[in-house]
Amino acid sequence: MGIEFFEQDRVFKLDTPKSSYIIGIVDEENFVGHAYYGKKCRDHHLGYLCRTGEAPFVPSKNARDRLSFLDAFPFEYPTHGLGDYRESCISVRTKGGHSAVSLSYTGHKIYKGKPKLSGLPATFGSEGECTTLELICEDKALNMEVVLYYSTFEDTDVIARSVKITNKGKEPVYLTRALSACLEIDNQDFELLTMHGSWARERKIQYRKVGYGKQGVTSERGESSHQDHPFIALKAGDATQERGDVYGIHFVYSGNFFAQAEKNQFDVVRAVMGINPQDFCWKLEEGESFQTPEAVMVYSSEGLDGMTTSLHKLYRKHLIRGEYKDKKRPILINNWEATYFDFNTEKLIQIAKQASELGIEMLVMDDGWFGRRNDDNTSLGDWTVNEEKLNGGLNHLVEEVNKLGMKFGIWFEPEMISPDSELYKAHPDWAIAVPGREPGRARNQYVLDLSRKEVREHTYESIASVLRSANIEYVKWDMNRPLSDIGSMELDADRQGELFHRYVLGVYELQERLITEFPHLLLENCSGGGARFDPGMLYYSPQIWCSDDTDAIERLSIQEGTAMIYPLSTMGAHVSDCPNHTVGRVTPFETRGYVALAGTFGYELDVTKIPQEDRDQIPEQVKMYHKYNDLVREGEYYRIASYSVNHEYDCYMVVSEDKREALVTFIQVLNRPNCKSRKIKLKGLSEGLDYTIEGEEGVYAGDTLMNAGILIENPWGDFKGRLIHLTAR
Ligand code: GLA
Repeated sequence: MGIEFFEQDRVFKLDTPKSSYIIGIVDEENFVGHAYYGKKCRDHHLGYLCRTGEAPFVPSKNARDRLSFLDAFPFEYPTHGLGDYRESCISVRTKGGHSAVSLSYTGHKIYKGKPKLSGLPATFGSEGECTTLELICEDKALNMEVVLYYSTFEDTDVIARSVKITNKGKEPVYLTRALSACLEIDNQDFELLTMHGSWARERKIQYRKVGYGKQGVTSERGESSHQDHPFIALKAGDATQERGDVYGIHFVYSGNFFAQAEKNQFDVVRAVMGINPQDFCWKLEEGESFQTPEAVMVYSSEGLDGMTTSLHKLYRKHLIRGEYKDKKRPILINNWEATYFDFNTEKLIQIAKQASELGIEMLVMDDGWFGRRNDDNTSLGDWTVNEEKLNGGLNHLVEEVNKLGMKFGIWFEPEMISPDSELYKAHPDWAIAVPGREPGRARNQYVLDLSRKEVREHTYESIASVLRSANIEYVKWDMNRPLSDIGSMELDADRQGELFHRYVLGVYELQERLITEFPHLLLENCSGGGARFDPGMLYYSPQIWCSDDTDAIERLSIQEGTAMIYPLSTMGAHVSDCPNHTVGRVTPFETRGYVALAGTFGYELDVTKIPQEDRDQIPEQVKMYHKYNDLVREGEYYRIASYSVNHEYDCYMVVSEDKREALVTFIQVLNRPNCKSRKIKLKGLSEGLDYTIEGEEGVYAGDTLMNAGILIENPWGDFKGRLIHLTAR
């Protein structure tokens, strides 16, 4: 496996366990072309797939029609302005006002391991786990070096890519576009898979046929967003959940993104992924470099399931870090839906007391504990404890909670500033704003200009000093509005186009500092629910709040989309009270538990006020979590049925790595008359092993369970669920 260069053929072959990716160096000008990505090939002689032997011929053979070549060649990293009219990955603005770029290969390095990306999140792997190729290219006219990075993994079918661009000239040059990856594939009647939503409706799966022209997803909101997701996949028309070709590209980044698929005149699809060029302009002085964020590409010949397995493995083993990487997370109870802003020390202790008796392990104090924050109009930025509410102080509260045998966690929204705050009075220029314009408010707040060092310093210290003052073991880091009114009071006019990206780098720097100073802290990212659920954030926090919608039925499709590309261990999921606060739906407490079991598991309700029969179920749910969480967190996930598709029921399963244990979760949303049971074919088991089902007589052969399936009797009533636990004999 790994990466090889075949000098005579001028071909690079990048292998993962089940895929090959082939790059060819072409013509005297050393164009870098994409020859193949797909199922693993033994051979490397695939350079011919770059079609240099047929018209339009390479420039050395056909100088009179260079443009036809440039507009057809499958470039690895397409450039702008010289005749490739498809979506490009790089463009510039020079002193003379020109935008063109042309890249030629000049050399390469292949080595074991994978380099870090300075200031950016990125997947990682040891020398035994990864091999890296640096393809060094140059634009002689611009005096610019562009290094294309590719890393393969030994244990998962993923190739990680990023690009480093260096100005080797004397004059400054402005990068107006610097994407991270491009993929060229001959059309196979693709469908484009993307994820969309809104607040409380994140990551709903959408398919559309890839037509001529450009189609895709973007964010200009300064975060990955509720609305679109930094992920695209091309699914062959005949591919299914279990079979067929799927190519995915996921962006390891938390700001503006741009992901497009374009079918061109020759029926080839080009897909690109990177920082959104809108409002992006990065000045490179002599000798300076720009490092793009990382994009990860996955190829599966085993349909969507294969893509899911590869991405889950990548993120669990090669992206998530820290103490909780492979560890069970404490069952938490969060007071947001329980009290909103109306709480004090006594109320929180009452909740904690009752919760601890039921087996809950951590109290999380949400929004409203600082400044004068009794509603969402004030005090962001004033991270001092409101002692009127927290009478006795924060440390007292934490000690009382600890005495109950529980951990304590706290909520912050560090990136924000309320116009009504002491911080804003002192530093109005710290908010992102365009001079001469009153910045637009969202939830009555502005965004702090984290591109500025002193703003980052102050923000870090104000959070860290709270964390240093008490035994706080968990932080929920929230971000409740998108960026707008893009302007920094500090950046020069010709650097304002750097603000969006500098902001994201600022967030990363703060979170890196936080987990470095507090290595035992469990960090959970959040953004008005799931607006910043992305691989970038996972580098800092092993879990992310999935959605503000805690309704068990709404969660089925939100968690289905999320789990397609993220491990279950990352999905913040809680049992909340009914009628549900977002949709008013009433579902059985038991079902709410089954749905939350798919994620990190916790509660978001006032445990002192819920009906006794619900409260009585909590100890059972706590037991259920402890029994199954290792399997849920580390097992392989398989989608079996989707409620979004069949409108009746949802079903998925997890299987342990050794295939000796599995858990099927079946949720019947709507019952159906005259239908006694549903046949479910299981997945991921070992054909040769025999399994028993907990609570039932009999032994089932693995191949029978997968080929013939089991019958799940329809529960009586709507919104009912069942767990089916299988163990190999
Ligand atoms: C966001 C979060 C919620 C809660 C509130 C507090 O909406 O997603 O979970 O923390 O903020 O204001």
